[in-house]
Amino acid sequence: MPPPARNAAGQERLVADLRAAGCVFAEDEAAVLLASTDDPAELAALLARRVAGEPLEQVVGWAQFGAVRVPVEPGVFVPRQRSRLLVDLALATVPAPRTVVDLCCGSGALGAAVAAALAGPLELHAADLDAAAVRCATRTLEPFGGRVHRGDLYDALPGELRGRVDLLLVNAPYVPTVAIGLMPPEARLHEPRTALDGGTDGLDLHRRVAAGAPGWLAPGGALVLETSEDQAERTAAAVRAAGLDPRVHRCADLDATAVVGVRPPGPRTLA
Ligand SMILES: C[S@@+](CC[C@H](N)C(=O)[O-])C[C@H]1O[C@@H](n2cnc3c(N)ncnc32)[C@H](O)[C@@H]1O
Repeated sequence: MPPPARNAAGQERLVADLRAAGCVFAEDEAAVLLASTDDPAELAALLARRVAGEPLEQVVGWAQFGAVRVPVEPGVFVPRQRSRLLVDLALATVPAPRTVVDLCCGSGALGAAVAAALAGPLELHAADLDAAAVRCATRTLEPFGGRVHRGDLYDALPGELRGRVDLLLVNAPYVPTVAIGLMPPEARLHEPRTALDGGTDGLDLHRRVAAGAPGWLAPGGALVLETSEDQAERTAAAVRAAGLDPRVHRCADLDATAVVGVRPPGPRTLA
């Protein structure tokens, strides 16, 4: 494919190529691609990757998430706009957190969005199993002084955070294994299975996150966990079983669902 020209005819062809590849917002995507490079050969290479089905964010290397722009390497989960609900709920539940953890952080979008909305000093940690995600999150959280750890859920976190976390933001994988095959190819083929697959009923990680949360939360601290409308009551049940007080929140505009579980103020009582 010859490189698209930057004149009006070239831009029209870019939009037409994107539309033919099934991109619904072809004009917007064309503008993003054009803004990404001045080099026609590089533009052609970016277009070819997008036309082949790679997510736009992985092609250009970044995603906009609310007020923050985060790096997204190939193979890293692309932050979804619906996850902005977690940021809103987190700040509404604990308006002035001192210690925030973004667990299963991917690109680090959630932690960065919370940090960007706060004026005061913040101790920010994030963790993920995946090396590419940890690389992206490290770049994302560097301006906020955030520390990014690699490992399995809470095992990745420094022990000195136990009992001190005011906000625990978690968008863990929650797609039931059988539903992975029904996902759009952009997700199914270009995002790692470990970022999507939540096990048989999708809630394997939710149960583990909920069970561990009370040991890490400060009194009055909150776990903010993304889920789906269908799974919300079961996610809430796992949070309740862990001893937190759960509430299900739904935002129709963002088509988003989340469970917030608050650790009761006062000393923890052992079950
Ligand atoms: C759905 S993605 C969400 C990423 C990010 N929080 C966001 O909203 O954009 C889930 C992330 O969880 C990570 N993950 C999966 N299993 C994990 C585990 N056992 N421990 C830590 N991270 C895990 C994946 O690597 C992936 O980056």
